[in-house]
Amino acid sequence: MRDHFEIRDADGAGRIGRLEVPRAGQSIETPALLPVINPNTLTIEPAELESEFDVDILITNSYIIRQTDRLRQQALDEGLHELLDFDGAIMTDSGSFQLAEYGDIEVTTEEILEFQYEIGSDIGTPVDIPTPPDVSRQQAESDLDITAEALADAEALDCGEMLINAPVQGSTFPDLRERAGRQAAETDLDVFPIGAVVPMMNNYRYDDLVAAVAASKRGLSADCPVHLFGAGHPMMLALAVALGCDLFDSAAYALYARAGRYLTVSGTEQLEDLDYFPCSCPICADHTPAEIRAVDDDDRRERLLAEHNLHVTFEELRRIKQAIRSGNLLELVDRRARGHPAMYNGYRALLDHADQLERDDPVSKGTFFYTSPESARRPEVLRHHQRLDRLSTPAQLLLTEAGAPDSDEYDAAWRVVAPFGPFPRELSDSYPFTAAVPDRPDRGGQLAAADGVRALVEANPETEFTLAIDEWHADAVDQIPERVTVESLSAIQGQ
Ligand code: GUN
Ligand code: ZN
Repeated sequence: MRDHFEIRDADGAGRIGRLEVPRAGQSIETPALLPVINPNTLTIEPAELESEFDVDILITNSYIIRQTDRLRQQALDEGLHELLDFDGAIMTDSGSFQLAEYGDIEVTTEEILEFQYEIGSDIGTPVDIPTPPDVSRQQAESDLDITAEALADAEALDCGEMLINAPVQGSTFPDLRERAGRQAAETDLDVFPIGAVVPMMNNYRYDDLVAAVAASKRGLSADCPVHLFGAGHPMMLALAVALGCDLFDSAAYALYARAGRYLTVSGTEQLEDLDYFPCSCPICADHTPAEIRAVDDDDRRERLLAEHNLHVTFEELRRIKQAIRSGNLLELVDRRARGHPAMYNGYRALLDHADQLERDDPVSKGTFFYTSPESARRPEVLRHHQRLDRLSTPAQLLLTEAGAPDSDEYDAAWRVVAPFGPFPRELSDSYPFTAAVPDRPDRGGQLAAADGVRALVEANPETEFTLAIDEWHADAVDQIPERVTVESLSAIQGQ
């Protein structure tokens, strides 16, 4: 049991939690986004992140500090919080990212963790090996062995109250990701970043990202706080939270600003291409795109864009937290999937793991909204189908899309609603059957409903079934077992 992480609310595999950071004397509400501070180039001062954006945790790179004489000395003399002028919690990375970029770094896990401890970091990181996607299995495995040694070295150190990250690697091999997750969770380390996903995101491979995260989560236990290393674009946060990620870090707000790029929840725009701002943050409310383009001072222009980028990112994070509270996180993920084809890939990959999400998903929450054919693959639908065999059926059962008929030809008349399929009328007021579904069901919803009918029929060989439906898609009708009498609704209603 990890007693520094408490889960307070959940939706899908997403959750609102509290991470206690003892060295900072604070607890952090998750999902949280840690702005990345490059100690050499402060786009926005940490103190301003704190006062303007309510940032209570950030991440910086202890390797850069250690390799830069002036920064190293000041960090050792005054401490990291003084160096950055920040009172919140500070996570430090180890130089692993530099290792992945440049192939070599001059520090061991012991040295860098001791340095992180000495400068007063609140959450430290060992030297893991960020194995990129698509390498040979042999390389992924041998890299993973080195990461496992780094975790063991970290475990052996006494770092007082500093929390320590246990990164999960394994490249694009789901079984290695799962194994790495299990091994990390078996250590007594504290926070569990999923690593080396930046190359996937840079190439818009959100389906591969989902596969890597889902596999890592299968290995980790539910009470592990999970960080998605290097992820912080607002368009993908809802998807990643729905998979069970709790912490994110974003350099995107600053890096993209430097390149004249404007973040939105459905992708990245070039400031160059915008005539209107789709946002009402203080920056966008006070300026037109042309006004920001006309700012001569590069630093100032970059700063304005970076501020917008942060506003839109934190706004999305608040929206995600409220969605978890309201129980409509998957509706939000669905909405984000419509904004960008890469996110659509990611959402469909997420639904490939509906069984995994179902294990954490609360049995009751806000109204289920059917908003796209993908809604038919949600965990709530899967759960109903898996549990149909728990319901007992009478000898003669009518399943109908309409109200109960007057005739006593049947022992009972259950409702049939796409995408769920059949359920007893008494459950109409229970989740998820209170769902708001469209009057014009799509093929995906009807196929799912037909799956439900099939599951019920197969579980009840003694029952005689009649199914009264309106105009179903032929593919859905084809899925109904032959022993079911299929009637049109109007025949049943005696019209
Ligand atoms: N930053 C982005 N990706 C990674 C990673 O895989 N490991 C570490 N330590 N830092 C990262
Ligand atoms: Zn804005």
